[in-house]
Amino acid sequence: MGEMRRGAVLVAVAAALALLPQPAATDAASARVTGGAQASAVSFAFGAPAAAAPLVSAVPEVAEPTAVDCARVKCVALTFDDGPSPYTLEVLRSLQKAGARATFFVVGENTAQRPAVVKAVADAGMVVGDHSWDHREYTRLTAKQQRWETKSTARAIVAAGAPKPTLFRPPFGSYDRATRKLGMPIILWDVDPEDWKTRSTAKTTRRVLAGARAGSIVLLHDIWPSTVKAVPAIIKGLQKKGYTLVTLPELLGTTRAGTVYTDRRR
Ligand code: NI
Repeated sequence: MGEMRRGAVLVAVAAALALLPQPAATDAASARVTGGAQASAVSFAFGAPAAAAPLVSAVPEVAEPTAVDCARVKCVALTFDDGPSPYTLEVLRSLQKAGARATFFVVGENTAQRPAVVKAVADAGMVVGDHSWDHREYTRLTAKQQRWETKSTARAIVAAGAPKPTLFRPPFGSYDRATRKLGMPIILWDVDPEDWKTRSTAKTTRRVLAGARAGSIVLLHDIWPSTVKAVPAIIKGLQKKGYTLVTLPELLGTTRAGTVYTDRRR
C-alpha cells in the first residue's frame, strides 16, 4: 500500500470511528463477564444494535499481499476475542497505523449486530476466526449444539462479507471430542495477560511484553477499553523487540482440522 493510499485509508477509518455510537452497555456487559464455567450464560450483546452500516464504503477494499516467513523471522500473533464491539475499529486503526496484522475471533451474535465492522477487519488484511454464536462453554453442549454454534457463526461471518472462517477458538478454551470433529483447527494461546480480569492497561501491556516469545499466540479481548488502550504500546513494544506481528495463518502455516494449537511449533 503506497503512502497516499495508506493515508486515505487512515482518514477513512478515522471517519468511520467517529460515526460509531459510544458504548452504553459496557458496564452491564462487564458485570456479567466473570470467566470460567459459571459464565456460560453470559450474553455478549452490546447495547444498541449496530448503527454502523455506513462503514462499508469507508474501508479499504484490498488487503496487502503478505510474505512473512515465520520460520525465518520472529513472529507473534495477537488475537482479539469476543467482538466485534464498539472498540474493534479502534484496535484495527492501531494495527494499521503500525503495519501490524492480527486475528479476530468473533462471536456470531455480535457479528450479526455489527457486520460492517467484521468486513472492515477482513478488508484490512486481518483474519476473522470463529468464536461460537453466543459464547457458550462447548463442553456443556451436545455435538449437535456445537455444530450449530460454529456453523451459525461461520454463516454470519460470510454474510458480513468476510471470508469463510477456517480457524476456531472455543469459548473459555474449553473443548472436547465433539469440538475436535467440527472440521476446524482449535486455536488456543500461550500468552494470556488476563486482560478481562485485571482491566488494567498497564498490566495487560506488561504481561504481553514479558510473556511473548517467537511463535507466541497472545490472547486479548477487543471488548474492554483497557485492552484497546494497551494495543498501541503492545504493538510498539513487540516491534521494538524485533517481532513481526502476523495473522494466525501466517504464524501457523497449514493447519489441520481437529488439531489443537497453542503456538507455532518449534
Ligand atoms: Ni471468548
